[in-house]
Amino acid sequence: AWPARYTFVVEETPYKRLCSTKNILTVNGQFPGPTLYARKGDTVIVDVFNRGNRNITLHWHGVDQPRNPWSDGPEYITQCPIQPGANFTQKIIFSEEEGTLWWHAHSEWDRATVHGAIIIYPNKDNNYPFAKPHAEIPVILGEWWKEDIGKLYTQTLQSGGDPNNSSAFLINGQPGHLYPCSESETFNLMVDYGKTYLLRLINSAVQEIMFFSIANHKVTVVGADASYTKPFTTDYVTISPGQTLDLLLTANQKPNHYYMAAKAYVGGVGVPYDNTTTTALLQYSNRGLKNYTYTPSPTPSFPTLPAYNDTNASVNFSGSLRSLADNNHPIDVPLKITTHLFYTVSVNSFPCPNNSCAGPNGTRFAASVNNISFVDPSIDILQAYYYHVNGEFGTRFPDFPPSLFNFTAQDLPLYLQIPKRGTEVKVLEYNTTVELVLQGTNLVSGDDHPMHLHGYSFYVVGMGLGNFDKDKDPLKYNLVDPPLRNTVIVPVNGWTTIRFKANNPGVWFMHCHLDRHMSWGMDVTFIVKNGKGPQAQMLPPPPDMPPC
Ligand code: C2O
Ligand code: CU
Repeated sequence: AWPARYTFVVEETPYKRLCSTKNILTVNGQFPGPTLYARKGDTVIVDVFNRGNRNITLHWHGVDQPRNPWSDGPEYITQCPIQPGANFTQKIIFSEEEGTLWWHAHSEWDRATVHGAIIIYPNKDNNYPFAKPHAEIPVILGEWWKEDIGKLYTQTLQSGGDPNNSSAFLINGQPGHLYPCSESETFNLMVDYGKTYLLRLINSAVQEIMFFSIANHKVTVVGADASYTKPFTTDYVTISPGQTLDLLLTANQKPNHYYMAAKAYVGGVGVPYDNTTTTALLQYSNRGLKNYTYTPSPTPSFPTLPAYNDTNASVNFSGSLRSLADNNHPIDVPLKITTHLFYTVSVNSFPCPNNSCAGPNGTRFAASVNNISFVDPSIDILQAYYYHVNGEFGTRFPDFPPSLFNFTAQDLPLYLQIPKRGTEVKVLEYNTTVELVLQGTNLVSGDDHPMHLHGYSFYVVGMGLGNFDKDKDPLKYNLVDPPLRNTVIVPVNGWTTIRFKANNPGVWFMHCHLDRHMSWGMDVTFIVKNGKGPQAQMLPPPPDMPPC
């Protein structure tokens, strides 16, 4: 049994990594933070107390929260931050999700240290669609900075450039043996020969998509973003910040010690990247062995990871995922589309007349969707919408026609290169069926963008490199068993098409899950209007919403 109510105390806690100690923001002193457990369809209450020294919000990533945007968490979108000394009770309403998700801070870049796993078991009349694993282990990829993360955020936004690379990547909070002062604390996964384990892999990194692999072993993907997939066996996986993967690992190799490892994947060229690698150990116990023990080799074998810029490896992995789509897990892809949307995602640079640039804080770099670089309002959009407060946002988020330009060329018209700053939202009528093509452009830097939508899971019906072709590409859509996700990679100079039915009224954020891009404005806010009847209305706000 697990509690249906949790207490999360956000507080400064000293942690030692890479030979030095610093205070980090944690929940309940833990890093990574506590795991939250639920069964499919449960409602879980979390009492959040801010005992730290900065504003904070918490988000339950991938939980659709039907009709309940009030507890979703992104700062200035669905709530104002919880101030030091204050508290807020959040209600997490699970619906269709089953598998692995995670929770994280959604204020500035605090999620670097404020995050943890969410595990959603089948409801009590159901089982996994695969044989029950011997054990289940969360494996959380992360990033560690020697600097204070609040300072890193402020400096990056003020200087307008890329943030410093992190000092280390992490597996379950530990850098691994390739980093200084890290060997003895490395995460060790003990396995018994012949047994199968469920790894609940989460990428909590702030700025990097990752490749992950285990030496000499294959893994079988059985779930992604809390939705089951057709079993798919592979040597490596690609996982972006925000995404989760459920992986079955069978301990069927020669008993020994093996490394598992993860490193950054960066689409595009000439982009600063961190080429360091985090490791953990997969260690066979002697328990499962009949009549003999083994001596571990002094140098465990090391996995092969794709090259940091191997876009094909990334696209091939993501494109191989299929929904399970069996009788017990039927899918529901919208086939008749009422709302076609085409959104470009770009990193841009503003002009700097008279040495003063037009970007955030007067800086040069920005990021945008359809050339709107999102600016936070002063009170959250949900409140402004609900209480009809004027002047906080506009409803003129622009629609772009697909295929009008060659978005992946270098020579876009100037007005497509220079974004406008603004707080424009996209309003959707209740129950419209939406197809959204996300097109990466080749402006300042061609990066992959892991785009995340709050309030919904969506079907990924297509993905490709180059410019989206509105006549040819839709013919290749997978409408039979597309994966259901909450975060999808838009490949460098490529496109991704998603579909969802706008049946969750509320205010829902969509953004790149690389935090630098999110903070530079690669964000859209959707308002999904109420429909007819009580089940199509947003719930009323809780009494303790943090004041602005
Ligand atoms: Cu994982 Cu907007 O969040
Ligand atoms: Cu991005």
